[in-house]
Amino acid sequence: MRRLFTRIGELATACGTEAVFGKAQGEIRRLHDAWLLCEGERIVSLGEGKPPEADEVVDCQSRLVTPGLVDCHTHLVFGGWREKELARKLAGATYLEILAAGGGILSTVRETRRASEDALYAKTKALMDEMLAHGTTALEIKSGYGLDLATEQKQLRVVQRLKSDNPDLAATFLGAHAFPEEMSHEDYVDFLCDIAIPAVAAEGLAAFCDVFCDAGVFTAEQAERILLTGKRYGLLPKLHADEIREIGGTEAAKRVGAVSCDHLSETGADGIRALKDGGVIAVMLPATSFYLQKPYGNFRGMIDADVPVAVATDMNPGSTPNLSLPFAMTAACLYGRLTPEEVLSAATLNGAAAIRLSDRLGTLEPGKLCDLVVWDADNLEQLIYRYGTNRAAAVWKRGVCRNGKETV
Ligand code: NIG
Ligand code: FE
Repeated sequence: MRRLFTRIGELATACGTEAVFGKAQGEIRRLHDAWLLCEGERIVSLGEGKPPEADEVVDCQSRLVTPGLVDCHTHLVFGGWREKELARKLAGATYLEILAAGGGILSTVRETRRASEDALYAKTKALMDEMLAHGTTALEIKSGYGLDLATEQKQLRVVQRLKSDNPDLAATFLGAHAFPEEMSHEDYVDFLCDIAIPAVAAEGLAAFCDVFCDAGVFTAEQAERILLTGKRYGLLPKLHADEIREIGGTEAAKRVGAVSCDHLSETGADGIRALKDGGVIAVMLPATSFYLQKPYGNFRGMIDADVPVAVATDMNPGSTPNLSLPFAMTAACLYGRLTPEEVLSAATLNGAAAIRLSDRLGTLEPGKLCDLVVWDADNLEQLIYRYGTNRAAAVWKRGVCRNGKETV
């Protein structure tokens, strides 16, 4: 069945199957008075002016169309919420102080251990539906609220079950998210390397392995050992680094050949060079900086150094309970000084590359999956500018309208 999206006011898309960087990150394709033809779940062709014949027509009413957004960094499977921390936070307690007092990640760990797999599944599915309604058609989900094998597996099984609803999900094992209260740091790193990683890999529960490498959590040396072990078991390395302080996470990312290094709000010139030399994608998380009232990071320095920049939400119950990627995109423009074109590449093609899905997603091009969003906006600038309300009018996933009206 050939379906034609017609009367597209502006069609904005990055191009290619690999992450873009430097000047190319801003060199997107912008078509006007455009159309896009798909057959089944794939895009066949697109262009400006007179459209081809089709079996079914979707009138986009002169609005903006972009690729479905790709959120390459989320912690979406968790028990409970943490709104009770807000008062402490407003009274001046820092993220690490709340964690040290047994709150923060560890309180979510307690709730996630208690929750049944079915309850976690239902809750995560609802959050994923809400993300889809905000334009996110593919995403990554991390574990990391178990810190014991059974709970980490429970979280990752939830992600596997969600793939029947959305096959374009990437699962990441983040056992190294914090240290559990019941074990010494040394014993926990041994447990991750000797027991947890082999078990997760044997069950095929994750594609990536991640470590929170920062002050007060895992050292660069521990991160390297965990990530190299993961790599031996076929899990591709990722890091949370330089969120609180630079402790060598970017160098570790380079040494282990990480696919991405995420957060990077404190990264300086040497760290940027390490990312460049290692061919690592920088995943920036401006909604986290917003909620933690912290620096946003040197986005422009990364673009100038030819490091591919992606932008994601980091959605989690503690440091940023926000699932709107358009909000993060606006923050990336305002505080990271990305242009609207650069941020579109960051939240689509580069996000897809950071979870190894850019061969089939992240751009609107013949052969790619028909994941697209019709926005209640005239053009890309308006999408960034009219922040704070959901502008996604219709969200199409693999050629199926999953949210909004088919004709918008
Ligand atoms: O990416 N930085 C570490 N982990 C999460 C926060 C997790 C939490 O607070 O529950 C993050 O921001
Ligand atoms: Fe995170």
